Amino acid sequence: MFSFFKKRDNTQSNYVQNIAEDYTDVMPIAEYFKSETGVTFDKQISILQNKVTTFCKQRNINSFGQLLKFIKHDIELKQALIDALTTNETFFYREFKQIQELVRLVRDAGKHITILCAPSATGEEPYGIAIALLEAGVPSKNFHITGIDINYDATNKAKNAMYKARNVRNLTPEIISRYFTQNDSLYTLKDSVKAQVTFKVINLFDASFATIGKFDFIFSRNMLIYFDKETKLKAKEILEGLRKNPNQEIFFGHADLF
Ligand SMILES: C[S@@+](CC[C@H](N)C(=O)[O-])C[C@H]1O[C@@H](n2cnc3c(N)ncnc32)[C@H](O)[C@@H]1O
Repeated sequence: MFSFFKKRDNTQSNYVQNIAEDYTDVMPIAEYFKSETGVTFDKQISILQNKVTTFCKQRNINSFGQLLKFIKHDIELKQALIDALTTNETFFYREFKQIQELVRLVRDAGKHITILCAPSATGEEPYGIAIALLEAGVPSKNFHITGIDINYDATNKAKNAMYKARNVRNLTPEIISRYFTQNDSLYTLKDSVKAQVTFKVINLFDASFATIGKFDFIFSRNMLIYFDKETKLKAKEILEGLRKNPNQEIFFGHADLF
C-alpha cells in the first residue's frame, strides 16, 4: 500500500521528486473512471481536469500518468478518487410524489417489504422513505431498506445520519421533531429510523452487486444522469434483475431519461 498517498501535510517532504509535473491530458483518467464507475465527464472535461489536478497536488502525485498507474494497484487511492469525483447532492423528500406512490403500494401489499435505494448517497432518500412509511402507519417490522452507493465518504455520512438545515428543508417542523434531535444547526436522525436502513458501499457494475438480493421495490434516482445512453441501459438491466416482481416498475428520477 502506498502510504504517501495521503493529502499533503506541510510537515512532510514531497515524495515524488523525479517526475516533472504534467496535468495536461486528463482523457485517460476520464476513460478509466467511466469504465470503472459508469460516470462520464464527456461534456465536463475541464471540470474533471481541475478536480483531478487538485486531487493529485494534495497527494504529491506529479502527473495524471502516475495517478493512473497508482490507482490500478492502490484500492484506497482509487476509492479516494471515486469519492472526490462523484456528486452526492441529495435531500429529504426529493421528488416526493414518487415516495407517496411507494407508500401507497407498500400499504396495499400488507406484508413485509424490502426496498433497494441505489444510489443512497448521504442517506436522505432511504431515510426519507422510512419516515414516509412510518408516518403512513406502516409498522417498522413490515419493511426494510437497503441503501447502496459507490462513495465511501457519503456512505459513512449516511450511517452517521447527521444533517444540516438545507438537507431537511422539505420536512415539516412536526416531522423534524418526531424523527430528529436538534443540536445547534445539526439534525440527528433518531435510532428508530436508522434501524430501518442498512448501507453498503458497492459499485452497481461490480459482479457482487447482482448477488445483493431481490427487492419488492427499487429506487434509482439521479445516478443515471451521470451515465451515457449505453451505460444507462446496462444499469437499468442490472437493476431490473434485482426485482422480485418483474412487472414492478423501477422508480427512476425525472432527470434519468433513457
Ligand atoms: C446525486 S446522488 C443521488 C442520490 C439520491 N438517489 C437522490 O436522488 O437524491 C448520485 C449518487 O450516485 C452514486 N453513484 C455514481 N455511480 C455509481 C455506481 N457505479 N454505483 C453506485 N453508486 C454510484 C454517487 O456516488 C452519488 O452518491
